[in-house]
Amino acid sequence: MSEKIKMILDCDVGHDDAIALMLAAAHPQIDLLGICAVAGNQVVEKTLRNTLNVVQHLGLDIPVYGGMDRPMVRDQILAPDIHGESGLDGPVFGPLHTEAQKEHGVNYIIRALMEAEEKITLVPVGPLTNIGMALRLEPRIVDKIQRIVLMGGAFGLGNRSPAAEFNILADPESAHVVFSSGAPIVMMGLDLTNQALADMSVIERMEAIGNKAGKLFGDMMRFTFESQKRNGLSAGPVHDVTAVAYLVRPDLFQTRPANVEVCLDKGLCYGRTVCDMTGRTGKPQNALVGTGLDLEGFWDLVEENIRRLA
Ligand code: BDR
Ligand code: CA
Repeated sequence: MSEKIKMILDCDVGHDDAIALMLAAAHPQIDLLGICAVAGNQVVEKTLRNTLNVVQHLGLDIPVYGGMDRPMVRDQILAPDIHGESGLDGPVFGPLHTEAQKEHGVNYIIRALMEAEEKITLVPVGPLTNIGMALRLEPRIVDKIQRIVLMGGAFGLGNRSPAAEFNILADPESAHVVFSSGAPIVMMGLDLTNQALADMSVIERMEAIGNKAGKLFGDMMRFTFESQKRNGLSAGPVHDVTAVAYLVRPDLFQTRPANVEVCLDKGLCYGRTVCDMTGRTGKPQNALVGTGLDLEGFWDLVEENIRRLA
């Protein structure tokens, strides 16, 4: 296997965020340098606590940083309807002894990139506030970013509004900073991530591994499964996991190059990722957009790596 991929995970843990974290921490080809929490699914105090809980529960030795507690411009929106009051309802964790690093997540991202000899891959799977702030504070980091592989947006329908996906709608201005930064971007939007469905057979398969990580997967996804069931669905998507999976197994994905622009007009389409895949606008391609997923290969990858954890 080639050299390890140096990566920073930026997340709003979150059920699918937690599984993305597990995959990133476990995969032998990934060097997970640090994890930053951002406000998104819940307020940052909760997403940070959830991150620390997962890290401690699995005995991981990865520094965790608290990041931005609100979007750059817009009023805050959260997602308790999807992830519960804690932001990670379902699993029960023991008392928390692990602490976050003192350094702010945005300062950490800047420092890690500026000090790095090799480029670093950023994997944001929540609102893009930390990354947008870092790019604004220290624009030189763009040259140190290997690429940004993010979960957010859609070329089709949204989920939080008819036009917009939650992570982008939660901070469209930061998303605009990221998409216009010039950094290479891979966008795992809803069109792709809605294919990454965990039905009951997947849940039972991960639980059958018999370790803490498999049980955590089950405790989290059973909660998601129940809330999906109330909406008449029999499976829940693990959106964020696809961004990490793409890093190590791009062969499982189909992508298309596009110009992606975030709509900042505060109307019906606020936060929409407008994806020009045909060159109609004449604007330069700034992202690879996920379109298709080999679901069997994806779950094999997740299982293989959950086995590697405690
Ligand atoms: C995104 O929103 C969050 O609720 C999930 O964690 C994912 O990052 C999907 O729209
Ligand atoms: Ca997320």
